[in-house]
Amino acid sequence: MDINVSTPAEERERQEEYIGKCRVYVSAFQVEHGRFPKACVVTFGCQMNARDSEKLSGILAQAGYELTNAEEEADFVIYNTCTVRDNANQRVYGRLGFLNSLKKKKPHLKIALCGCMMQEQAVIEKIQKSYRFVDLIFGTHNLFQFAELLSETLASEDMIVDIREETDKIVENLPVKRKYSYKSGVNIMFGCNNFCSYCIVPYVRGRERSREPKDILREIEALVEDGVAEIMLLGQNVNSYGKNLKPPITFAELLREVEKIEGLRRIRFMTSHPKDLSDELIEVMRRSTKICRHLHLPLQAGSDRILQAMNRRYTKAQYLALVDKLKAAIPDIAITTDLIVGFPGETPEDVEETIDVVRKVQFDNAFTFIYSPRTGTPAAAMENRVPEETVHEGFDKLLAVVQETAKARAALLEGKVMEALVEEVNEQDPALVTGRLGNNMLVHFKADRRLVGKFVMVVLDTCHGFYYTGRMVDWLGQTKHTRLGKMVDNQWLN
Ligand code: SAH
Ligand code: SF4
Ligand code: F3S
Repeated sequence: MDINVSTPAEERERQEEYIGKCRVYVSAFQVEHGRFPKACVVTFGCQMNARDSEKLSGILAQAGYELTNAEEEADFVIYNTCTVRDNANQRVYGRLGFLNSLKKKKPHLKIALCGCMMQEQAVIEKIQKSYRFVDLIFGTHNLFQFAELLSETLASEDMIVDIREETDKIVENLPVKRKYSYKSGVNIMFGCNNFCSYCIVPYVRGRERSREPKDILREIEALVEDGVAEIMLLGQNVNSYGKNLKPPITFAELLREVEKIEGLRRIRFMTSHPKDLSDELIEVMRRSTKICRHLHLPLQAGSDRILQAMNRRYTKAQYLALVDKLKAAIPDIAITTDLIVGFPGETPEDVEETIDVVRKVQFDNAFTFIYSPRTGTPAAAMENRVPEETVHEGFDKLLAVVQETAKARAALLEGKVMEALVEEVNEQDPALVTGRLGNNMLVHFKADRRLVGKFVMVVLDTCHGFYYTGRMVDWLGQTKHTRLGKMVDNQWLN
């Protein structure tokens, strides 16, 4: 079937019918086994991949599956894969071996693979050849067809493979089962047009497509109604949101509309490409009371020569000027970044340039990656590969500086009182909960587990480098009349 023929609305109706067909299977399973079948969705990738997993979970739940995190007890396991670096792929292959052993013990177990890695021809060939026990494979462009593919898989003994090259279709209003009750990702766009020379994402996620603002706003309103206080607007390059919509709209304009949604407390977004970050966006962030004081602004490299070879389309000086502008407008902003070491042709002097930017910007955190050649990208065909030893030396040196600056930044907030959204009960110590600050740092403190999903004020007593331990402020006694007191007030009392 050509998935671009039907309209998105027709497509959604079709998928609802398939969910009905899956339910028939689920009822039969229940009669036979005396219980509902269990499904396990495993996320391997980024926030967008995680949001896709919530859509898969939503469809499975509507079909009647009970969701579990334990692969061993599942009757249906789906791996939502990532291929941004080779280690993401290796993790999938490693765990597939484990799934094979599970299937030997439980022959009715169905195994599905989807996500970015499945958009690679070589991967499909490898699975078809060496992992014959997999039942279903589909890619990123037809995730909305999952109900249909699931119903086909449940009725078949053969491996079903359905990969699409590209789609311009955005199917709205599919069922979603959120991982967290109080926060949610919201896709604002799909795909990427930037073609950074090392990156596989544009090949596996397709061209940039923005969702209509009204669909985004309606989704956020419904989420808020359902108890969500914090949203993360998701796109590979949110700063180019809306350029191709009719009429066009900027990301800053979208943010202004999102800000107006009553009951929404925190707005985050990622990822921002430095080349497209506008003054308008800085101004909207500066004025906002809801947009978190945190910006993830991937630098990748500090050397102009490497930046150019990466096709990033900014220079070190431009990046530094942008950061200066951001810090001048929003002094308390936390800036985090992504860095790559070992891009073809990179010398130790180039790594020094990256280190220089880290020192100058004082990133609050940085994800540091070793360059991984991705088949089909321009960089993978470059011949001047950096010897492994040199890569590791550069990586270790960079990481040490990243850690040192991040620690210094974190220490600045020690003793301060900040608002935290309580995310979960601490895994190591159930007497503690973990809260996330606006700047994206975590704080652990003693509190009742019923506060999960609520905002509280916390004193950041001790900085431990990348997190804090603290105490909840007795707002009743201290801050009831202040703005901060009011902020916790209405959330906490009920
Ligand atoms: N769209 C986002 C990032 C997507 S991938 C952006 O442009 O910033 C997340 C991060 O993975 C990238 O920022 C980059 O640092 C890293 N990355 C991507 N491809 C890589 C590769 N081939 N090798 C190593 N790191 C890579
Ligand atoms: Fe990859 Fe660059 Fe697109 Fe980010 S902007 S997804 S790094 S191509
Ligand atoms: Fe995300 Fe990995 Fe795909 S980073 S977009 S899941 S390749």
